[in-house]
Amino acid sequence: MNVLVVDNYEQLSERACSIISRHIQSNPTSVLGLATGSTPLGTYKELINEYEQGRVDFQKVRTLNLDEYAGLGPDHPQSYRVFMQDHLFKYVNIDQANTYIPDGKANHLENECVRYEQIIENMGPPDLQLLGIGENGHIGFNEPGSSFSSETHIVELASSTREANARFFSSIEKVPNYAITMGIRSILKSKKIVLLASGERKAAAIERLLSGDVNEEFPASALNHHDDVTLIVDREAYKQIE
Ligand code: F6R
Repeated sequence: MNVLVVDNYEQLSERACSIISRHIQSNPTSVLGLATGSTPLGTYKELINEYEQGRVDFQKVRTLNLDEYAGLGPDHPQSYRVFMQDHLFKYVNIDQANTYIPDGKANHLENECVRYEQIIENMGPPDLQLLGIGENGHIGFNEPGSSFSSETHIVELASSTREANARFFSSIEKVPNYAITMGIRSILKSKKIVLLASGERKAAAIERLLSGDVNEEFPASALNHHDDVTLIVDREAYKQIE
């Protein structure tokens, strides 16, 4: 794993943006795997800025998001579809038809998982997958104990994940109990992975990740099986190692 330690969140966002922009410049039809949550927000802001300055063109880019809450349709304010619209898609020239996110309100969620995995298969896995990491080591919504051979599936969210994400909802009761997520195997198919970690809350997870211990109880450790992962981590999240 290639580890880039930066001073702060701003630098982390700039580095991630620069990797993604260069990738799109050299391959304008890139398939990008995208994440939600707080960590990539600065990266998306920087990418919007790059677009506005005419340095990056999203016209032919295709995107695949990692996950979506079960029960939230694409118009729900807390859905990841709305999140992506509000923080990236509506500010750049991406073709909405080329942006894929699981449908959390599909009639048959199991069928939706199969459909989504098929989309990943048809488009080819992401050329570049952006990831955040949960305090418990989750990637996507693959919680501790998820099989490393899992593809897109329905997952019951850990109570710590629901608590961490309650800040986006009016109360914790409103946070869905289930989600659809790309599986670990689906994520590992990506050609290149950029993992972001910022802030002290992530320090223990980063220490465990970099210990090299590969264990299904710590989902992010599966990334040690991939040969092109760049971790961009700020000093706060790296401090247990320094
Ligand atoms: C979101 C996702 C999650 C987040 C993780 C960290 O699409 O896949 O794995 O990356 O929960 O979230 P933040 O960045 O809010 O700390």
